[in-house]
Amino acid sequence: MRILGIETSCDETAVAVVEKGRALLSSIVGSQVAFHAPFGGIVPEIASRQHLLALQPIYRQALAKAKTTPKDLDAIAVTVGPGLAGALLVGVNFAKGLALGLNIPLLSVNHLEGHIYAAWLEDGPTPMDKPGLPLVCLLASGGHTELILMRGHGRQYLLGQTRDDAAGEAFDKAARVLGLGFPGGPEIQRVAETTDLSAAKKERFPWARMGDSLDFSFSGVKTALRRRASELGVGPHLEEGSEVVANLAAGFQNAVVHALVEKTLAAVRQHNARGVLLGGGVAANSLLRLEMVRRSPVQVVVPRPDLCTDNGAMVAAAAFFRAPTPVSLSTRMDQDILPGLRLGLDSKDVPRHLHSA
Ligand code: KG4
Ligand code: ZN
Repeated sequence: MRILGIETSCDETAVAVVEKGRALLSSIVGSQVAFHAPFGGIVPEIASRQHLLALQPIYRQALAKAKTTPKDLDAIAVTVGPGLAGALLVGVNFAKGLALGLNIPLLSVNHLEGHIYAAWLEDGPTPMDKPGLPLVCLLASGGHTELILMRGHGRQYLLGQTRDDAAGEAFDKAARVLGLGFPGGPEIQRVAETTDLSAAKKERFPWARMGDSLDFSFSGVKTALRRRASELGVGPHLEEGSEVVANLAAGFQNAVVHALVEKTLAAVRQHNARGVLLGGGVAANSLLRLEMVRRSPVQVVVPRPDLCTDNGAMVAAAAFFRAPTPVSLSTRMDQDILPGLRLGLDSKDVPRHLHSA
């Protein structure tokens, strides 16, 4: 089963060819970052226009790299949500055209489920076999920060989510405060790595505990950073290599990573999970990866950094493994975009006998 996966929900135009949900024959990702960077964030109109320009050439590259012709494809998978409406429309319409022209199924994929299945794309046992179920999945990206309990294909339960900014969004806004580039996550990480740990400890920021809840909140740490930066006179006049900026970046990164690790491990304890799975752009953060592995009592599965950020392969993998539903296995020309799509039943709906004692 050879699936072509298409991803256009945000600012990456991505197409991949994946065999049996695991073997990556090709994965081409066209980043729009240069078009959005001057605005310090993603401009939806620009995103749609760039997807329109880039999708066809990236589709051709993905087929060529995979040494695949369109008639070798068994299905087309596409992200239908969540994401930017205009951006999703470009991918979904392109996918419909292909599926119709080739007379093969169109599989609709939830972007968040895609981030989970990125971990299926590598060699070795699947996360389902090792560490095994249930898995606590931390999905942290520019638009989402969610803790999901996975008990099987298509059996996901929402345990917690951010009440304000997504973790990636917080990184992006913090980078703007510090006069760093976009996207902010990799920039904060790069600058933070120029300071040593003892220096980073000079700047401490709070993280939101939120009682027993597994929800997150990043607005407090963002405000604390803004206040401290203004106290220290951080502004565009400071040199890029400024130690003050590096300490602030490191302190901010520590606080966000700490919150993500604490809540994930609380979820593991509450649900007797056998493993932790990381996904989404923020999972590319090296401190988060290190800290989660260092502190977790159970095995941590983290896809390669390039599979954590948006890509088409995760979409193809999710389409292959997700429990077949009438929607997923039919050619749905009436498939609409679902910009506000969510993942997982509410945790209060976890069947009682599945709750850990
Ligand atoms: O999953 P993704 O590629 O797109 C969305 O679905 O949003 O995530 C992008 C987000 C951005 O906010 C970016 O700043 C963040 O992931 N990000 C990182 C790192 N790499 C990307 N955040 C922290 N550290 C990183 N190394
Ligand atoms: Zn994403």
